[in-house]
Amino acid sequence: MKKSLLLALCCLSATGFAQKFEGLALTPPMGWNSWNTFANKINEAVVRETADAMVKNGMRDAGYTYIVIDDTWSLPARDANGNLVADPAKFPSGMKALADYLHSLGFKFGIYSDAGTKTCGGYPGSWGHEFQDARTFASWGVDYLKYDWCNTGTANAKDAYLRIRDALYTAGRPVVLSMCEWGTAKPWEWAGDIAHLWRTTGDIYDSYDGVKGWERGWKKILDLQYSLVENSQGPDGIAKYAGPGHWNDPDMMEVGSPGLTFAEARAHFSMWCMIAAPLMAGNDVRHMTEEIRAVLTDKEALAISQDPAGKEGYRVLAEPAKSREVWVRELGNGDLAVAVLNTGSVAADIEVDWEYFGWVMKGETYQIRDVWAKKAAGDTKKAFVSHIDSHGVTLLRLSKVALAAK
Ligand code: GLA
Repeated sequence: MKKSLLLALCCLSATGFAQKFEGLALTPPMGWNSWNTFANKINEAVVRETADAMVKNGMRDAGYTYIVIDDTWSLPARDANGNLVADPAKFPSGMKALADYLHSLGFKFGIYSDAGTKTCGGYPGSWGHEFQDARTFASWGVDYLKYDWCNTGTANAKDAYLRIRDALYTAGRPVVLSMCEWGTAKPWEWAGDIAHLWRTTGDIYDSYDGVKGWERGWKKILDLQYSLVENSQGPDGIAKYAGPGHWNDPDMMEVGSPGLTFAEARAHFSMWCMIAAPLMAGNDVRHMTEEIRAVLTDKEALAISQDPAGKEGYRVLAEPAKSREVWVRELGNGDLAVAVLNTGSVAADIEVDWEYFGWVMKGETYQIRDVWAKKAAGDTKKAFVSHIDSHGVTLLRLSKVALAAK
């Protein structure tokens, strides 16, 4: 008796028995975020038109559920009661009405705040207002919170993210918590019980491998996943921290943004599927080409991304001299997803030798399906060669050959 009383007293903090909302984001969350294309130009009309476009172009039905408004949505100051207020010039109907509209179309509504005193764009942050803001978000119908890390001074990241987790839980409305701490305090080591996804790096921009201040092209971001933890090559790297309900987030997608060739955009998308990354489109989905639309909604690629086992893929081989990288993702039904990247500046025939995959293939023969070519491509009895555009990808799905067919 005494023991249980003691236990109750010890754990009954001001926040009650707060925890992370379980059962959310069991596969990498999919949706759209305003930042990459619209930055501080986001407004209600763009959000409504984006949602309408995503209904028409098949993105909603393909699984892009979360529509997330990033930084710069609020007034520059809180109201007299300390509440965050949506800027009425940008969001004339207010956030509740906008959320109702998105919900009526079958979407979920995401918003942005920051653990510090101000957001990265200089708007009010949630520091010292966590519980109040969580209640505001719940009253608006928020389903997803991206929580940034600007202007946090010497704050401890784990404490700050625990506080917003507890605040959201206490407010009572299930919310996916997207940590945007840029990997500084190695969140993969401690955020599994706090957030549903956590950024691993600084910001992406629409380039293959450029570097612009603290922004990087998608290939540089992909490479960075491999310098985050020691001996990170293969399955024992950062990949092992991801799984259903808790994902490494290499940032939102630039698929369909102007700075990438089609081959680069499709490779970027394929690699985000391979590494079980959240698939937050960042392009202007109201005006995209049919070929980009087809990439973003491709059922076979999305089946790799959304594989229920939730194992993150990893790099098997990187050979800059031969312009090739080979990646694998182990899928729940025993299939393997394999991505072959041409990292060179000209199109080339790239070979994959199945011996690299000894430990996952265990001597079995697999049939090969070429996801983007949409056709069968032989089996793994011999090396596989494909012609790949510069910075492009070949994405394969391998299935074990049935015993009788051997
Ligand atoms: C940071 C984040 C970005 C974006 C901006 C908004 O840079 O990492 O994803 O949210 O802030 O100001």
